[in-house]
Amino acid sequence: MNLYQMISPCHFGLESVLKRELTDLGLTITAVEDGKVHFQGGEQDICRANIFLRTAERVLVQAGSFKAESFDELFENTKAIDWASFLPQDAKVWVTKANSVKSRLFSPSDIQSIIKKAIVEKLKEQYHTETVPETGAEYPLRVSILKDTVTIGIDSSGVSLHKRGYRTDTVKAPISETLAAALLMLTPWKKDRILVDPFCGSGTFPIEAALIARGIAPGLEREFTAEGWKNLIPKKCWYEASSEAMDLQDPSAECDIQGYDIDPASIRAARENASRAGVSDMIHFQVRDVRELSHPKKYGFIVTNPPYGERISEKAELPGLYRTLGERFRAMDSWSMYLITSYEDAVRDLGLSPERNRKIYNGMLKTYFYSFPGPKPPKRQREEKVSER
Ligand SMILES: C[S@@+](CC[C@H](N)C(=O)[O-])C[C@H]1O[C@@H](n2cnc3c(N)ncnc32)[C@H](O)[C@@H]1O
Repeated sequence: MNLYQMISPCHFGLESVLKRELTDLGLTITAVEDGKVHFQGGEQDICRANIFLRTAERVLVQAGSFKAESFDELFENTKAIDWASFLPQDAKVWVTKANSVKSRLFSPSDIQSIIKKAIVEKLKEQYHTETVPETGAEYPLRVSILKDTVTIGIDSSGVSLHKRGYRTDTVKAPISETLAAALLMLTPWKKDRILVDPFCGSGTFPIEAALIARGIAPGLEREFTAEGWKNLIPKKCWYEASSEAMDLQDPSAECDIQGYDIDPASIRAARENASRAGVSDMIHFQVRDVRELSHPKKYGFIVTNPPYGERISEKAELPGLYRTLGERFRAMDSWSMYLITSYEDAVRDLGLSPERNRKIYNGMLKTYFYSFPGPKPPKRQREEKVSER
């Protein structure tokens, strides 16, 4: 087995959740920086990380990391990497993305072309050929330069991991699947507790919660670029990672998950998405205004992403909407609420004081994740629930 250094980008502010996921997979974390976790593992772990991780955006295999303050240094240090240990002679290699922060080198197109040139030169030397045909498997590169340190990662995922394959994105302002999963994992919600999303839109929170409850790995139904890396990852590694994921599923897990939205088209989309994700039997979706929000049982969880004024016309409605949500929540006996929004006056209008407020970047959008935890159920009730399962 070869040992690879790997990097997984994630949402800024949610590195701790990704760390927990990696540790649960038995992987060794080597460093954490803003929006990225570094870890190491063998070829099998490239497959496992792609199939199992709920909160990572992609899995990069680090080819090298070095200082470069000039294009000459960028060329020479890229060329010094043992590219033949990663790429076959016919590899189709290119830099898909280059970003630079607080560094001398900053022109993405120059960075891209110099790195590509250096790799082609090195492959020609290592494989003793005049040309590299680039007719084989794809090895897309992602390059980040921070304070003149260049890190080159080979992207094993391809399409970003938030694309599980169940969502068609037909509704407006959906939360990303990786962000929804990470936020659920930040709350104390477990499958034996009720979960309601009163602004469910395309159903992302309820669907991600159902996938977690059944132990369905998010990457089981999709493809990854590294499936083409026959030189590094034997096919059996993919089979073994998939069968490990299948063994961990609990198809009989039952839970009480509900998604409401005022918009019938959103509810239709949510039902279709849940069905594609294979969890439609676990979620009750219903067209319902937040003004009608209630639940007869105690100790449930609201996890939600209310409107935040994406459209100008919605802005004027936000104070009333958040006031209503605050009132309805207060009327629900012993419930907890966790809410993500970029609406700056959310707390004032909800009329509640959060126990915690986490700042999370959703792309360029600064959002807040507010926690309003309620009491835990009495111990006896919790034990009964466990023994019922
Ligand atoms: C930011 S979106 C939620 C997106 C969702 N998390 C997803 O992943 O698709 C807010 C949702 O609130 C819904 N909404 C707006 N006003 C509402 C109300 N009064 N009651 C219930 N839902 C409402 C909108 O239809 C929209 O789908």
